[in-house]
Amino acid sequence: MNQPLSAALLAALAAPAFAAPAQQTELPRFPAPKNLNFAQVQGKSQSFELNGQTVRYRAFENIVYVLKPADSRYQTLNVYIPEAYFTGGSIDDYTAQTAPIFFPNNIGGYMPATAGQPENDQRAGGKPNAIMLALSKGYVVASAGARGRTEANGHAPAAIVDLKAAVRYLKANDQAMAGDANKIISNGTSAGGALSALLGTSGGSKDYEPYLRQLGAARANDTIFAVSAYCPITNLEHADAAYEWQFNGVNDYQKIDISMLDYKVERKLVKGTQTPAQIQLSGSLKALFPAYVNSLKLKNAQGTPMTLDANGNGTFKTQMETMLLQSAQKALDNGKDLSDQTWLTIQNGKAIAADFAAYAQFVGRQKTAPAFDALDLSSGENQLFGDARTDKKHFTAFSLKNSTAADSLKADAHTVKLMNAMNYTSPTQHYRIRVGENDRDTSLAIGLLLSLKLKNSGKNVDYALPWGVPHSGDYDLDELFAWMKSVAAK
Ligand code: DHB
Repeated sequence: MNQPLSAALLAALAAPAFAAPAQQTELPRFPAPKNLNFAQVQGKSQSFELNGQTVRYRAFENIVYVLKPADSRYQTLNVYIPEAYFTGGSIDDYTAQTAPIFFPNNIGGYMPATAGQPENDQRAGGKPNAIMLALSKGYVVASAGARGRTEANGHAPAAIVDLKAAVRYLKANDQAMAGDANKIISNGTSAGGALSALLGTSGGSKDYEPYLRQLGAARANDTIFAVSAYCPITNLEHADAAYEWQFNGVNDYQKIDISMLDYKVERKLVKGTQTPAQIQLSGSLKALFPAYVNSLKLKNAQGTPMTLDANGNGTFKTQMETMLLQSAQKALDNGKDLSDQTWLTIQNGKAIAADFAAYAQFVGRQKTAPAFDALDLSSGENQLFGDARTDKKHFTAFSLKNSTAADSLKADAHTVKLMNAMNYTSPTQHYRIRVGENDRDTSLAIGLLLSLKLKNSGKNVDYALPWGVPHSGDYDLDELFAWMKSVAAK
C-alpha cells in the first residue's frame, strides 16, 4: 500500500556527478512574467472521474511565480480550482472564499522538481494522487516546482526560497483567486517533507528576504497555516550523530546503489559491512548526540525532561521506545501478527516493551557513517550545500575535520541554518508528521525531536510512526484529509 520512492527520488539517488546524464526530454523554459497578477492567467476547464463521480475544475498551469526567475523550468506554479467556485457553489461546506489551499510539492532527494498535476500515481498502483483527492473534496490546489541541488543555481537555500516565493504569490493574489490564502496547507515527502516543515517553522523569517527580493517575489507574507510532512530529511547538521545514536553496533548494511547504464537507471541493493574506520566514526558520532539532545531542553507530554546520558541512554530513548510501542499496539489492535518482531515484548495482545537497540538491528542500517555529510563529499546533501563554484561541500565540523576529499570546504553556517526546520520558531500552529516505523533513511530521532520541539512551543502536533511503513509518503490520504478538514475548521 505504501507509495514507493518517487521518480524524483530515484533520479536523486542516481545523481553522482560522474554518471552520464539520463536521456530525458528537455523541460520548457517559460518567459519571465510581466506581472504577478493571477487575474491575467488563462484557465482551462478540465475534469476527471473519481469513484464514479466527475470532478470538474479549472487548471491554471505553468505560472512563473517570480518576476526574475533564475530557472523557469522549475519556478512555476500549477493552480487547480473546483469548477463550483466559479458559479457560487460549495463543496463539503467550502466555498470560493473559505476553501483551504492544498500546497503539495514533488521534491525528492533535494533535486529539482516540477509542479504537480492531478494524475493517477503509477507507483501507487494507479491510485489517484493527493491533488485529485483534494479537488474532489473542494480544496483549491496550488503545487509549486522548485530548483534543486543538481543545478548550478539550485543549491541551498534555493528550494525553500522558491516555495516561499510561491506562497507569497498566493498571498498576494488572495483576492484574485478562489481559496483562502490564510489557510495554506503544505504537504511533502522526505526532502519535500523537510521543506514542508521548514516552510511552516520559518514562515515570516527575515532570513530569506534577500533571496526573495533577488528573484522578484511578490511582496507578501509567507507564513502558512498548516504543515503535513512525511519522513522529513531535516536537521542535517545533527542527522549523522542521530543516525549513529540509532545504528551504532549495527554494522551490516543494505544500501540502495544507483548507477547509469546505457542511459538507464539501475537500482541495486548493495549489501556490505562497515569498515573498521566506519565503525570508529560511528562511535565518535554517536557520542556527539546526547549533548545536542540535552541542549534542546525538551519535555514530553508528561513534563519529563528529554535527556540522554553519555552512553545514549535516558528518557529521550524511552520516549522513542514509547512511540514504537504505540505503533505496534495499533498494528496489534488491527489484528497484525507481530510475533516475528524480536525487539518487541507482547503479552496478552499488548505491546509492553520495546528494545531500541534490538529494533535497530531488526530494521537494519541503510547508510554508512557518516550517513549525510560523507567524508568524500559523495552524498546528495554534500551537493545540497555546495554552490555554483564548488558543487559539493561539507556542512558539519566533524566531517570537515575527517574529510578524505582532496579539496574540502564547509558551507557557511548561515546557509546551513536556512535549511533546518529546527532552527526557527514556528508561526504555524498545525503540524502532522508521519515517519514510517520501517524508515531507515534518517534516524527516527529526527522526527521525534521536531515534533517535541513544536509541541513544547505550544503547537498542535499530530505525530506517529505508522507500522511497517518504509520511507514514503501519501500512503494514508484519507487520514490526511480528515486531519486537514479538522484543523482548517479551527
Ligand atoms: C531523500 C532520501 C534520503 O535518504 C536523503 O538522504 C535525502 C532525501 C528523499 O527521499 O527525498
